[in-house]
Amino acid sequence: MLTPLAGQAKTDARTAERRAAETLAKMTQEEKIGLLHGPMPMLLAASKRPKDVAIGAGFIRGVERLGVPMLVESDASLGVSNLMEMRKGDVATALPSGLSLASSWDPELARAGGAMIGSEARAKGFNVMLVGGVNLIRDPRAGRNFEYLGEDPVLAGELVGGQIDGVQSNSIIGTIKHFALNDQETGRNVASVEMDEASMRESDLLAFQIGIEKGNPGSVMCAYNRVGGLYSCEHPFLLNDVLRRDWGFKGFVMSDWGAVHSTEAILAGLDQQSGEQLDGKPYFSDLLVKAVEDGKIPQSAVDKAAGRVLYAIYAHGVADHPLQPGQTIDYDAHAEVAQRAAEQGIVLLRNEGGILPLATTAKKILVVGGNADVGVPGGGGSSQVNPVGGLKRVTKGAESGPAAGFARRGYVGTAPLDALRAEFPGATVSYLDGKDAAAAATAAKGADVVIVFAEKYSTEAVDHLDLSLGEGQDELIDAVASANGKTIVVLETGNPVLMPWLNKVPAILSAWYGGQRGGAAIARVLAGEVNPSGHLPVTFPASVDQLPNPVLPGSDAPPADKETRAIYGIQAGTKPFDIHYPEGSDAGYRWFDKKGLKPLFPFGYGLSYTQFRYDDLKATGGKTLTVRFTVSNSGARAGADVPQVYVTRPGKAKRLIGWAKPDLKPGESKEVTVTADLRVLADFDAKAQRWVLPAGEVRVEVGASAADPVLTGTVRMNRFVRKP
Ligand code: BGC
Repeated sequence: MLTPLAGQAKTDARTAERRAAETLAKMTQEEKIGLLHGPMPMLLAASKRPKDVAIGAGFIRGVERLGVPMLVESDASLGVSNLMEMRKGDVATALPSGLSLASSWDPELARAGGAMIGSEARAKGFNVMLVGGVNLIRDPRAGRNFEYLGEDPVLAGELVGGQIDGVQSNSIIGTIKHFALNDQETGRNVASVEMDEASMRESDLLAFQIGIEKGNPGSVMCAYNRVGGLYSCEHPFLLNDVLRRDWGFKGFVMSDWGAVHSTEAILAGLDQQSGEQLDGKPYFSDLLVKAVEDGKIPQSAVDKAAGRVLYAIYAHGVADHPLQPGQTIDYDAHAEVAQRAAEQGIVLLRNEGGILPLATTAKKILVVGGNADVGVPGGGGSSQVNPVGGLKRVTKGAESGPAAGFARRGYVGTAPLDALRAEFPGATVSYLDGKDAAAAATAAKGADVVIVFAEKYSTEAVDHLDLSLGEGQDELIDAVASANGKTIVVLETGNPVLMPWLNKVPAILSAWYGGQRGGAAIARVLAGEVNPSGHLPVTFPASVDQLPNPVLPGSDAPPADKETRAIYGIQAGTKPFDIHYPEGSDAGYRWFDKKGLKPLFPFGYGLSYTQFRYDDLKATGGKTLTVRFTVSNSGARAGADVPQVYVTRPGKAKRLIGWAKPDLKPGESKEVTVTADLRVLADFDAKAQRWVLPAGEVRVEVGASAADPVLTGTVRMNRFVRKP
């Protein structure tokens, strides 16, 4: 376990508020406004960049005379992705993707990863980390899903809370994002999500609410998209009502980079304009100064916003722990954290005839495809980390469109091929890149076992139109599996994919984007040194026709014309359109449950090299809902399981209320307890502005996935009412 920085004790909220008020009282107007905006250093001439300051996504000038430090910001959730320094060859530890982390169902692992990347951020001179993304996965084609934490609000909320808490243990401000409903990339700067309040509160907003309660982030980043016609960054309902009034959030709201459209946004609850050059206008600097002078914006709005920034600075120990950039980082120890995370994020989807773990008797192993000779893929965009060892085999992530300027497709870390050779010293492990499917099939015939690596590149700013692997990989797998029945597929993707070859392939692993040590983690799982324990945080549909929107919203929208580009401040993209989510609050498995659809692999699914049994369900209802049961390892290997508890109310889709992750030796049993947060079961009554759970019977199930109830029972719940 990593030890967070010494002296990271946080200041309590009341002290932080008092200190913020005292400092604010001493500040000039210029100093206050200075806290409310900042540039993207990459777009600043070198001479305008502050000296001896780390160059990341942005910075906000502090007030030196009052001991208010400069806020130095870095992306993001998968490690320090320090843009400029990266070009100069700086590296950082690359954690596995969000979907990998979410597959662990382990908030402690999220915390350990957060503590590690936060310590690197601080050592490099950053005190704000733009971590963690908690947009719900509503569409498995969305480009940024790899950064996010799955389709369920409780799972995503708990994990992001752990991640942020870990990051902030380094006296750093964390930033939960992108608030709200920024669930796809297509049209992200122009589209408007149309959803009723109850649906929002029970899904995407609930993930944020839980994340904020668990992680206490210093900041919230409002999103690019519009919600109900209004930009998220000038949305009084989202920012003033939900976030501040209802949830009591005391920190500051920073905009996404290029997401500000007016000075009046300050009245709606936005405090800080980030990456201001991208907005085209100095909304929160010169224009704000003028608006206050002209009486259009009250001084109190500026004071409030500056006070919130100061509050976060004091509450998270940023003022009390000045940055000392250039500290040494123990990259070897950090790589271990990345590897442990990658190992726990691998999901075993299929293992017919116990082909895995690979027997040490396999003497001829053929590895095919997926650039497995160089490393594992990473996703593109602002979250991309230049890993220790560098990005290998890099190509452009997009030839045209919104990602063309910045997305890179690169391979990181330990190459699976090398790692497999190390795991199987007695075998000949050969490699073919898979470009020639016929040649791969011929070679497969002579191998004891074939491992095909299949990948799909995802990046910020672009969605996929379908769920296919693409690049001829389905054909490759089919050809190889037809030639050799002992073919194992390792998927390295940022999203669920279809598997037309499924029945020909006895074993499948989903390794997502495994980060810097992904290759080693895959090899250890294949060899059986690690017993896989990952469970899907997202449903794998059997076809796009099963999705609430079979056609990705906006994928048929016409390209933005000159006028649209000027209005929305974008260089490329589509004309504005509305996004409707027919599933409402029932995203992912809930939609599949409601519609009686059978997915390819359900949410929560994941196999192990051992077997688990569930017994003795004891569920008690009334004022609270507590579910107890026993989990036993009935197989021959030690391993961890993730039994899940779902609750279904009459006429409703099932909802995950919690889970356990017991680690069990062969023959060992443990009783576990899951207690429900009743908001998760309740409806949000928008009229009464309350969570309401009507009295009545609910069905409780303990399942191995959302589609595999093992123990079931019913309990009677009392009526439950709670403020938002
Ligand atoms: C992304 C954010 C990121 C910011 C700064 C934006 O494009 O949406 O997630 O933190 O850039 O790099």
